[in-house]
Amino acid sequence: MEKRLKEFDKQHILHPYAKSIPDVDMEFVHSAKGVYLHLDNGEKIIDAMSSWWSVIHGYNVQELNDAAKNQLEKMSHVMFGGLSHEPAVKLAKTLLHITSPNLQHIFFSDSGSVSVEVALKMAFQYHSSQGCHERNKILAFSKGYHGDTFGAMSVCDPVTGMHSAFEGVLHKNIFAQEPMAPFSKEWDEKYIEDFHHKLKSSHKELAAVIIEPIVQGAGGMRIYSADFLRRVRELCNEYDVLLILDEVATGFGRTGKLFAYEHAGIEADILCVGKALTGGYMSLAATLTSKKVMQGVESNGNVLMHGPTFMANPLACSVANASLELLLNSPWQERVLGIQQQLEEQLTKCEAIELVKEVRILGAIGVVELHENIDLAYMTPAFIQKGVWIRPFLNLVYIMPPFIISKEELSKVTQAIYEVIETFEIHRRNKID
Ligand SMILES: Cc1ncc(COP(=O)(O)O)c(C=O)c1O
Repeated sequence: MEKRLKEFDKQHILHPYAKSIPDVDMEFVHSAKGVYLHLDNGEKIIDAMSSWWSVIHGYNVQELNDAAKNQLEKMSHVMFGGLSHEPAVKLAKTLLHITSPNLQHIFFSDSGSVSVEVALKMAFQYHSSQGCHERNKILAFSKGYHGDTFGAMSVCDPVTGMHSAFEGVLHKNIFAQEPMAPFSKEWDEKYIEDFHHKLKSSHKELAAVIIEPIVQGAGGMRIYSADFLRRVRELCNEYDVLLILDEVATGFGRTGKLFAYEHAGIEADILCVGKALTGGYMSLAATLTSKKVMQGVESNGNVLMHGPTFMANPLACSVANASLELLLNSPWQERVLGIQQQLEEQLTKCEAIELVKEVRILGAIGVVELHENIDLAYMTPAFIQKGVWIRPFLNLVYIMPPFIISKEELSKVTQAIYEVIETFEIHRRNKID
């Protein structure tokens, strides 16, 4: 790519959560295939992030390419108001079939954040349509992350989330302590006390509870007990509060179950999916809900008030259909379990490094939490030099590779993590001395 185009990017294009003119130069990706990103400079690096959870089959997959090309020949888009099409119907059928039986209605949208906005609207309208206007708050969890739009931000962690940047603008919600119960540790009722207390005291003003099932992602990469989730469901039932499960990051096999809520054997009243829905090809998300919720929303002649221009985009739906077919006909569960076992063998070795606080693993997710915040300017080039793309944040070096990653490729990733953290520790010590 021409140097002047790269310079244009630097001077004009905003990237996620970054300064308008960044301190560190961007890497440019020329193309991608399998687990590899081919950089503009000719280097080839393993994408251990699956482009933020989405590229579960790897890049440039024949079946998905074909689905996009075939659909392109028919129509790439058509409005969804008053019109419909086969790719959307097929996708809706599959999604409603593979999720819990109580979910009977589906709303397609453009991104995970918007799927959360729609979920919140469903919950608010469920009550307001029935004349119950005081139930206008959401009970969410500390260390949660649900997206960057306003409704979604208002249920993200109030400290590490974006609340301070939007002080006075965000809807005021209620927050329970983050789930402290570790995955597969013995259950103790004390773990749910804070949530129980907040639910008990506020349920009359609550439209819903929202939680990321089993894994809190961008708010801290925390993995928690299925018993916790089960108790959340039970208590929501007891206090008659709707439960929104945000599976945008965890859905489609990432945690070793098709949906993370399956670890707890529960059902959502409202379920959000996105990211891996199209195998990471394009932006598409969905909010699924029950007959009960839609009947509530539609009380007194109301309808759900949402309708994006690119709702159920046929191109995205066709690719999502191909992606789900590929996933469901693949040995995805064995692959994810294989990744988990290899991470357990290899990534846990990082615990020997002084700077490492904890290693957490579930399914095809590996997290190394450090005692100190990372330094992107140091770590990004160090990982690239080792042939790996990893994008750490705060004090977290984490990976969620494509399910098709080979043993050798994953070994390269875990070895790179070990070595980069080890040298980062030395680099930090030298800086302090
Ligand atoms: C759990 C969860 N919900 C919602 C979102 C927002 O999705 P999107 O970035 O597609 O808007 C994310 C994104 O990381 C997420 O992890």
